[in-house]
Amino acid sequence: TFEINSETTYYAPSEVENAANFLEDYLKKGADITLKKADLSQADVVFTKVNSISAEGYTLTITDQKLKVAYADATGAFYAVQTLRQLLPAALERSATGPERSVKLPQLSITDAPKFEYRGMHLDVARHFFPKEFIKDYISYLAMLKMNTFHWHLTDDQGWRIEIDAYPRLTEKAAYRNETLIGHYNEQPQKFDGKRYGGYYTKDEVKEIVAFAKAHHVTIIPEIEMPGHAQAAISAYPELGCGDTPVEVATTWGVFENIFCPNEETFTFLETVLDEVIALFPGEYLHIGGDEAPKTQWKSCAHCQALIEKHNLKDEHGLQSWFIKQIETYVNGKGRKIIGWDEILEGGLAPNATVMSWRGTEGAVAAARQGNDVILSPTSHAYFDYYQDDHPDEPTAIGGYLPLQKVYSFNPIPKELEGEAVQKVLGAQGNLWTEYVTTTDQVEYMLFPRILAMAEVVWSGPAENSDVTYPLFLNRVARFMKRLDAMDIHYANHLYDIEGELVKNGEQIAYHLNTPLKEQEIRFRLNDTAEHIYQGPISISTDTKLEAQVYQNGKKLGRPFLEHIRFHLGVGGAIALNVAPHKAYSAGGKEALINGVSGSDSRYGDKEWLGFWGDDVTASITLKTPAEVSKISTRVYHAPGQWIHAPRSASVRLYAQDGSSEIVSLFEENGSNNTLVAYDFETTESRHKKIHKIDVILKSAGTIPEGQQGAGNPAWTFIDEIIIE
Ligand code: ACM
Ligand code: ZN
Repeated sequence: TFEINSETTYYAPSEVENAANFLEDYLKKGADITLKKADLSQADVVFTKVNSISAEGYTLTITDQKLKVAYADATGAFYAVQTLRQLLPAALERSATGPERSVKLPQLSITDAPKFEYRGMHLDVARHFFPKEFIKDYISYLAMLKMNTFHWHLTDDQGWRIEIDAYPRLTEKAAYRNETLIGHYNEQPQKFDGKRYGGYYTKDEVKEIVAFAKAHHVTIIPEIEMPGHAQAAISAYPELGCGDTPVEVATTWGVFENIFCPNEETFTFLETVLDEVIALFPGEYLHIGGDEAPKTQWKSCAHCQALIEKHNLKDEHGLQSWFIKQIETYVNGKGRKIIGWDEILEGGLAPNATVMSWRGTEGAVAAARQGNDVILSPTSHAYFDYYQDDHPDEPTAIGGYLPLQKVYSFNPIPKELEGEAVQKVLGAQGNLWTEYVTTTDQVEYMLFPRILAMAEVVWSGPAENSDVTYPLFLNRVARFMKRLDAMDIHYANHLYDIEGELVKNGEQIAYHLNTPLKEQEIRFRLNDTAEHIYQGPISISTDTKLEAQVYQNGKKLGRPFLEHIRFHLGVGGAIALNVAPHKAYSAGGKEALINGVSGSDSRYGDKEWLGFWGDDVTASITLKTPAEVSKISTRVYHAPGQWIHAPRSASVRLYAQDGSSEIVSLFEENGSNNTLVAYDFETTESRHKKIHKIDVILKSAGTIPEGQQGAGNPAWTFIDEIIIE
């Protein structure tokens, strides 16, 4: 080992003073060790520049005599220190209290460099506001994990969060909303808290945060949203909108029709705002949003229509493209570059823009093929506002399902890309939107541990064979959690939560229990009988209540597990679908519809619900053994705020062994106030016949009508367990 104590000396050229200062401060605070400076020839810890090392990379060579850090740039040196930090005991994260004045590092040699040059995390401070000190903490977490970019989402419909001298009403008015929605957007009737809410960062605070980020080798990309998500700004300066109707800062979530009108006042406003933003942030990029801008108002605005005519634009998408190009020209003229969400492709991409692909990866593929740089942050793998676990106790989140393993399995390079286009992928980013994230503890909960997976993906590259390497990653996570404990980070821990699965093996149907972190002691109980230690799959042949719990040294760990397995006639049968579920909502596979387990009552993102985007769905179930069927029931999800609609019609067709068949139809019209619509189909003609096959047929609600969230897009259909009795 190499020992560090108050006799230890170091040498660091001034170009790596951030790294050296971090090490000094860290050892002082955590171990009460005061490092001393010495000459290059004398020092025990030596930082040396080596030009052949790649950007942001470093090598660490530790013997019992010396600790050598080699780097090509200051960021590499800083990351070497972050690695040293991880090699030191987690207790050093706490302020030193005891007499410990010596720590040991193992002798080793590490050569390390990042796979991707863009390694980012985003935070929305518009939906909920987080104070300056926490923003610094957030940046420090990124730095610890060698992530180099903080995307700061500063403006949205629900609040403007940055002081702009030329437009004081942005902080007097646009930074505050009158009240906030309580509970989930889907809950009806909607309720509001009646409390004024808001806040903003002063220029001095921004400067302090920028300086902090610089010292931590994190670049901040400020986002000023345009032309959509602009309602707060328009509430303060109505001339920026198309209409004459006054608007208020939004008090609920979603996409709003009040967007910037591309008029002279708006361009003066945006250019002035961007000037002030550019003066505060030294990074090369500005994020200009560009997402989710409904064109309803532009369609009926005389000025907008005249612009379309004047510039010979195809339509309102052409106008958005023109708008973004105007802004790009302005920003490029200031020596900076723009990034926009993938909607900036619509109507034609601005020539130098970098595209942040969020609605999947298609935007990234299209932009990279056009020769533009891209950053991947698709909802499927990078939206940390989604649920990370399907347990009913999980705090309310926006929806979706993004468990740790999914983040770990992320490959930022879309498989469609080849050749030079691959080089256009700068990297990836996790996004944390905060509609349902109201406290800093909650930010940390949504962030950790998923950020650990994202940090590995962007630094080390996508995991090869992620199914096999995931358990090893979890061992690292379990170890890292001790550090997070010492840092008082409010992380989510699902490593000891039991996961269950009904598995059909020939004629045998058995329930398997598992934990993410392997080799745990699981105890279970069936139908309130005696407790057993889990040794292997549990044979199931009847309705079963199954409770289980992980134990370590006689103490409970993780959450209690409870499953009701409904052993209906469909369980153990075979199922075919006319169309595959969307890959984001098919975690349980098609068998999830006949596995005896119903999905959550309040969420569609778990592994029991299946989601289909726009298609009519037919599920054909072949019973394991032909049987008399009296009733078939299922549930669909109805959450128009999330583009999810109950189907237009639902019916079942029963095929009897005598060759006859019966159709039972059911039309559900009034589901609009419930997130769940239950269907019961009762058989009549075939009541006493042996049924061998059943089709459940759902006709999609079709295109979402004007005036609703997602208007013009196909509606989603979500279906739960099909219970056959
Ligand atoms: C986004 O999530 N609207 C970029
Ligand atoms: Zn207009």
